Amino acid sequence: MSSLDFLFNPGQIAVIGASRSPQKIGHAVLDNIIKSGFEGNIYPINPREEEIAGLKAYCSISDIGAPVDLAAISVPAKHVTAVAEECGRAGVKGLIVITAGFKEVGKEGLKQEQELISICKRYGMRMLGPNCVGLMDTHTPLNASFAEGFPNQGNISFISQSGAMLVSILDWSFEMGMGFSRFISAGNKADLTEIDLIESCADDPQTSVILCYVEDITDGERFVEVCSEASKKKPIIILKSGTSSAGAQAASSHTGALAGSNRAYDAAFRQSGVLRAESMNDLFDMARAFATQPLPGDARVAIITNAGGPGIVATDAVEKCGLKMARFNRETIDKLRGNLPSEANLYNPVDILGDARDDRYRFALEAVLEDENVDSAMVLLCPAAVTEPENTARTIVELNKKHDQKPVMAVYMGGKTLTEGRNYLTANSIPTFTFPEPSINSLSGMIRYNEHLKEPAPSEPVGLDNVSHDAVRKTLDCVFADRRVVLLGHEASNVMAAYGIQVSKTYLAASEEEAVEIGANLGYPVALKISSPRIAHKTDVGGVAIGLQSDNEVKRAYRKIMENVRYYLPDAPVYGIEVQDMVDEGVEVIVGMSRDVQFGPLVVFGLGGIYVNLLEDVSFRLASALTTREEVNKMITETKAYALLKGYRGEKPADIEALSDTILRTARLVTDFREITEMDINPVRVHNKGATALDVKITVEEVNEKK
Ligand code: COA
Repeated sequence: MSSLDFLFNPGQIAVIGASRSPQKIGHAVLDNIIKSGFEGNIYPINPREEEIAGLKAYCSISDIGAPVDLAAISVPAKHVTAVAEECGRAGVKGLIVITAGFKEVGKEGLKQEQELISICKRYGMRMLGPNCVGLMDTHTPLNASFAEGFPNQGNISFISQSGAMLVSILDWSFEMGMGFSRFISAGNKADLTEIDLIESCADDPQTSVILCYVEDITDGERFVEVCSEASKKKPIIILKSGTSSAGAQAASSHTGALAGSNRAYDAAFRQSGVLRAESMNDLFDMARAFATQPLPGDARVAIITNAGGPGIVATDAVEKCGLKMARFNRETIDKLRGNLPSEANLYNPVDILGDARDDRYRFALEAVLEDENVDSAMVLLCPAAVTEPENTARTIVELNKKHDQKPVMAVYMGGKTLTEGRNYLTANSIPTFTFPEPSINSLSGMIRYNEHLKEPAPSEPVGLDNVSHDAVRKTLDCVFADRRVVLLGHEASNVMAAYGIQVSKTYLAASEEEAVEIGANLGYPVALKISSPRIAHKTDVGGVAIGLQSDNEVKRAYRKIMENVRYYLPDAPVYGIEVQDMVDEGVEVIVGMSRDVQFGPLVVFGLGGIYVNLLEDVSFRLASALTTREEVNKMITETKAYALLKGYRGEKPADIEALSDTILRTARLVTDFREITEMDINPVRVHNKGATALDVKITVEEVNEKK
């Protein structure tokens, strides 16, 4: 029994605010519960009525005198907390608060919502809403909502943050012939969120696909934790709206500007094995495929078509989605040759020509489904005078049943003349589309999901030596004591070194003499860089000199830099000049971090240098995912920079292991110190042996509860 059974399969349900008046929501909820065939006890609660819809009505929940699992509340907002309190006292386990007028209306509403949450906590009740349409479970059956209609029974659960979206999809689903196991309106998500609901649906035996429409996810960490587990049981497909780049625009670092919440959602979904839908169409297209077809073993697709053009479009879509056109074995080719007209194309896509009747479809489809080099098939049909769309539909259904390990999609490209065939296919669980691309896209979703299922459990996190938490703490304390939010170069360098990241040696010199002394100690050549919390782009103000070979060159450069900075930025506070050793050549990459409000530290890797933002050759991961070498290596190989690192055009390969060590340590550093809000190591120079952090920018913010 799932922990939310009292919500989806309650023994008894009370409707508080049940009304005889057909215009009232309280009437619709009661009516829906009765009509859905709910078999438990139903208690209408209304102090002014003795009977509603043939059921005895009660003044209040406490008058029932018997246990009640669930209460659906549709009384005006000002009465909701009192009613919830009564429910708590009566031992109700779950509330569905349909009433609007809470957090969404402003401060006063928010206060009421918080009160409602604390009542639920006090009595150990769980709450859906407020400000929601309610929920439906077609297998219980129960329709505890004020929506119009009850979905067809099926195996898809749909969770929606928007009530309007939910009722529209419900209406549309009748036309599409789609079936659902659960329909859930999450509303304001004051208590139960999509995370709890996904968790519950993953344990629901009647659900095989979980769909979700969300506008925000508030507990990123728990989302990743729960969905990582749930996605191993059922595919989870989420449409996330409202991702903005506002955060990215405000960021000061390269990484921050690249990141943005959309990237964080992408990284979090990927890490949790959640498939991200790009549109409403995408969401339901994938749902249909998952709900009706087996998962393909691999990515090799066979296409059968009666028209050349659409076959090419489908082939393009296969390549674009990263799938493969299947290469048939000799036996299949011979079979096709022996039974198709000589003008037919026997190779994938199999073109059975415009005059193809059902027999050719049957023959070709059977032949490719029998081929062990084929993992899935797509049947494309365009209407011509001799085409037999209905017979072919029956053939597709029959062969799909016969070869039940391989998914089949149908693309019936046309309108009116194909309606009956299309309806037959849909009614018989064949995902049917009007154009090829969405069908291939859905197939691609299934393949990605299958890969996720096959992924081995992550190995043990890599143990990192040479990590000094205290040294970083000490540096950060100094920065905060100085009331700064940006670390100076030598401080950033200390932080790197404290976490075992090889970094160019950087020391702060407060005078010309000191600079010379440091330079001589480091050994020439050295570089000088202005040290000021207000100067982020040092080269722009003439604040950098490199390749200095002697004491005299250091002296001269020191004076020149000071002069330049005084000229360009006379008001900038200057702490001195950093003296840095010159680092060997290597491939320049960026490793950075930007902290996402929902999901925490998001690490970026990519091609480094000043064109990072222009080229955007980057990959992202939540820092929490970067605990193993495999994951870090995957992150590196996703970029074009990887080709350079391997040794491009005869260059010697760079030390990828040293780079992955830098990424692992960076991820650990930003996980350990919540104070670090943004970070750029740009560039990290990856040599033939070793990797060195050259230019490090770290932005911090004091947090109350230090880790
Ligand atoms: N206990 C039991 N019944 C109560 C009650 C209480 N404490 N207080 C009021 N009632 C009864 C009323 O007497 C009325 O019954 P009646 O028709 O027999 O008189 C019924 O509950 C409803 O109360 P009423 O004052 O008529 O409110 P309403 O039906 O006009 O509006 C809501 C109530 C909840 C529908 C309304 O406040 C609301 O929130 N509407 C928006 C809902 C929404 O959009 N949700 C989000 C969707 S995404």
